[in-house]
Amino acid sequence: MRFLVLGQGGREHALIRALKFSPSVTEVHAVPGSEGISQDAICHKLDLSQPNEVEAFMKRYQFDCVVVGPENYLVQGLSDQLRALGVPVVGPSQIAAQLEGSKIFAKEFMVAAGVPTAAFQIVDDVEGTLKAAAQFTPPYVLKADGLAAGKGVYLCDTLAELKSAAEGLFEKRILGAAGARALLEQFQAGYEISYLILTNGERAQALPLAQDHKRLSDGDVGPNTGGMGVVAPLTIDAALRSEIETKIVQPTLRHLQGSGLLYRGVLYIGVMVTEQGPTVLEFNVRFGDPEAQVIMPLLDGDWGYVFKQLSGGELVPMKWKNLHMACVVQAAPGYPDAPVKGVEIEGDAGFQGPSSYFLHAGTSKNERGQWQTSGGRVINAIGMGSSLKEALSAAYKQAQKITWKGMQMRSDIGRKQL
Ligand code: GLY
Repeated sequence: MRFLVLGQGGREHALIRALKFSPSVTEVHAVPGSEGISQDAICHKLDLSQPNEVEAFMKRYQFDCVVVGPENYLVQGLSDQLRALGVPVVGPSQIAAQLEGSKIFAKEFMVAAGVPTAAFQIVDDVEGTLKAAAQFTPPYVLKADGLAAGKGVYLCDTLAELKSAAEGLFEKRILGAAGARALLEQFQAGYEISYLILTNGERAQALPLAQDHKRLSDGDVGPNTGGMGVVAPLTIDAALRSEIETKIVQPTLRHLQGSGLLYRGVLYIGVMVTEQGPTVLEFNVRFGDPEAQVIMPLLDGDWGYVFKQLSGGELVPMKWKNLHMACVVQAAPGYPDAPVKGVEIEGDAGFQGPSSYFLHAGTSKNERGQWQTSGGRVINAIGMGSSLKEALSAAYKQAQKITWKGMQMRSDIGRKQL
């Protein structure tokens, strides 16, 4: 089969690598891909905002299946556009993608589905935000409604901080239309699990659980990032798992079906495990990044077959390897606020160990053919092993093969899980 993966980061490199090792897959293409990804896929330049160009490209290549990586393509309706051309797609419809594209849509969906989630108020100005804050206890959580590339969530310890965040969104319009409305939410203490399911909108297949490390620095301090490292599979208590299934996954699927939303893809449920039980922090309508990097290699089977069937609305039984995976993210100086591009990577970015390798997330080659930083999260060092300890040791040994000026990397990925 001939596959196309849309996107260009570490998640997409992980999807491509998994497809490359799928017996049913003969060709893997990427749009736009990257220089790093071009080591494993045929990359194309294509303006996805031009329907005529997209149609001509799809006619030319006759893909058996297209997997959409990032949320913005889904929120823009690319999967609907491709389905209308008769192309099999893994990715939810544009309306269903609002589960990630609008935090307010997602909250209203959770309430209607009866899924546990933090109490909230919808706000759209500074005065209203401060008034609504009286119903909540600090820290205050203010979340911009629209997609904000990880920059739309403010955790405010005081009313003064909340006021400044609300002024940024509603008066200075720092996130544009994405911050025109927001959710003010009750803060929930607990720990987070990335609970990803493959779903055809009726039934679900849970993927191995993963645990991301969202803060920039060791000990879970510093600014929030897209994720600085992740391990899988995470083992949780059977009672908690069953509670997540019955209180969150099943009602979500029932409501998805009842709402008639077309969903053939991944639903990433950000679960917060609190003292009162699991609650939903957020929905994402795609694989997590870097969660995909550690989940994909765990399938004991053929991702090409799984995706192709899912694009036609079928969920197939899946088995998982008895293996542990770890991913350590190496980030650019200045990430997450202002990542510095063009910093030369020293060492061997092509290195592969017996149980470790790199996935490219934000790299490019400079005019001398040297790898350099070209994004916030630059490269993912991946390790595998028969235990989490082995996987982590392989990932960190891999990471040591390269460095650059100002490189940022956590040294405690997976430590809590150990
Ligand atoms: N790693 C978090 C996310 O993909 O949203």
